[in-house]
Amino acid sequence: MTVRRAVEEDDAPLLAIERSAWDASSGFPSYLDTLQDTFFSRSGPEAHLVAEYEGAVVGYLRLQDKYQFPEGAGVLAINGLAVARDARRLGVASALLDAASAEGRLRGARKITLHVHSTNAAARRLYERHGYVLEGTHPDEFLIEGNYIAALDMAKTL
Ligand SMILES: CC(C)(COP(=O)(O)OP(=O)(O)OC[C@H]1O[C@@H](n2cnc3c(N)ncnc32)[C@H](O)[C@@H]1OP(=O)(O)O)[C@@H](O)C(=O)NCCC(=O)NCCS
Repeated sequence: MTVRRAVEEDDAPLLAIERSAWDASSGFPSYLDTLQDTFFSRSGPEAHLVAEYEGAVVGYLRLQDKYQFPEGAGVLAINGLAVARDARRLGVASALLDAASAEGRLRGARKITLHVHSTNAAARRLYERHGYVLEGTHPDEFLIEGNYIAALDMAKTL
């Protein structure tokens, strides 16, 4: 498995992953309707790490500055992480998270933050194993398929 910076040519495989990776426990069902024809329409390749396994792109992590003003410098946000369904439990997300930590340290960041649905047991376990701790809970934040769920803020100190 290798992790590298995304390039424009990754658009099609990443779009395919994005269209199939999420469900009601991990994402927002309405999001699929907003997906455009290009994966990089909202943020470009430079914001993404991609994982390749046996020559195929199998996952991505979007890592961005959380704040656009100097007082918030040093705080990065994982604004997306997904792995192709047929490549799960192989350590792909773990490799992407390790690479994100390494990049954060290189960039002089002190912290990486993220949001996760309370219902997303797989991702919560993943993040905990990588040293992310709960920083905040927003109870009943979203109504998804008839159930109110909490949004969780997690973060890792670098
Ligand atoms: C969550 C997700 C990114 C995990 O990707 P992955 O490549 O399968 O994760 P890894 O193989 O690196 O797993 C590392 C550890 O995370 C935990 N984990 C991952 N998937 C899990 C699952 N389905 N159930 C329980 N624990 C899980 C385990 O502790 C696992 O270690 P193990 O396999 O030795 O038990 C993937 O399931 C996914 O893309 N889900 C949909 C999108 C999503 O939820 N993104 C995160 C939004 S905040």
